[in-house]
Amino acid sequence: MVKLAEILNPTEDAIGQVVDALLLGEVVALPTETVYGLAGIISNDTPLEKIFEVKERPLFDPLIVHVLDFPSLRDLVDIDSTLLDKVWRLADIFCPGPLTFVLRKKKIISHIISAGKKTVAIRIPAHPVFREVLRRSGPLAAPSANPFGYVSPTCAEHVQASIGDKIPYILDGGPCEVGVESTILDLSRKHFTVLRPGAITAEMIENVLGEKIEPYHSFITTDFSAPGMLKQHYSPQTKLRLFKQSVKEISESISQNIAIIYVSRKEAQLQSNKLEKEKNIFWFSEDGDLSEIAHNMFALLQRLDKINFDMICSQVPEKVGIGIAINDRLGRAAAKRKDMGR
Ligand code: TXA
Ligand code: MG
Repeated sequence: MVKLAEILNPTEDAIGQVVDALLLGEVVALPTETVYGLAGIISNDTPLEKIFEVKERPLFDPLIVHVLDFPSLRDLVDIDSTLLDKVWRLADIFCPGPLTFVLRKKKIISHIISAGKKTVAIRIPAHPVFREVLRRSGPLAAPSANPFGYVSPTCAEHVQASIGDKIPYILDGGPCEVGVESTILDLSRKHFTVLRPGAITAEMIENVLGEKIEPYHSFITTDFSAPGMLKQHYSPQTKLRLFKQSVKEISESISQNIAIIYVSRKEAQLQSNKLEKEKNIFWFSEDGDLSEIAHNMFALLQRLDKINFDMICSQVPEKVGIGIAINDRLGRAAAKRKDMGR
């Protein structure tokens, strides 16, 4: 019989057990405030290679390093004092939290982490369980704990169901608060650029630095600035189609066996009386709050993917604040497989 990862409550003993495994070169799943991460120590190439193996991730896609605080971040990057000051100002406001900085790396960062790039992506996560592990283990590389290209995990059970047969432990920190991956901010270019939208928007960053931040553009998908940002990503097995106002916008004839997701219960009530199969109607939130939609989005997609629907049709929220990230993830999840950049 296949041995599945143990899901551990984050007691003192369990954290000790997980840290021991990490220090021996194992990879384990840990909760962050965004999504669950698949973590390994950065001082040894074996766990880094294991991360790529477990996720079946292409080697061109670099990893994010997670550190406890600003001094630990500073130790890993090779930047001048002006840029360091800007990172400090952002970290002071947004960290610990869902913001990842791309900066010129020091040589100690393994080429496996940076996938041959001169930069490294670093973030200071907020989840108290991840932080307790970091305090004892030192910096950890951690991509999202899902097979490459699939929907990111926002609870321990999602990790167990997808890669549970490949890792020894999952520390259970409950459902992830934010629900979408961190904002990736590239500070290694002349014009600071958001490579992946998240809970912290370009506008929020501009307000702190007082300078223009290039917001996220989809061209980034093709120029390999963030190699993991492929056009098709975050995808359930079930075909996904998106609509803005009404599900009728989807032109192809809709079979009975589809799941329809509305952004809110309110919206579902407004529109679903026209739809026959009420049991196929779902919603991301009670009243359309964007943070609530982000928090629930991946979990609902994972749940519906286990039911045998022919298709999932999802409404998309407005593109403001974290709504930009929600639109980005849903757009990639709905992209056709032939569009994949690999
Ligand atoms: O919220 C998050 O960021 C989660 C949690 C676990 O921390 N992590 C996460 O990692 O989403 P991952 O590996 O699934 O996505 C990392 C993204 C990839 O698209 C990768 O290409 C990009 O970060 N990335 C990593 N290093 C980079 C670098 N040096 N330059 C540009 N993009 C980079
Ligand atoms: Mg990922």
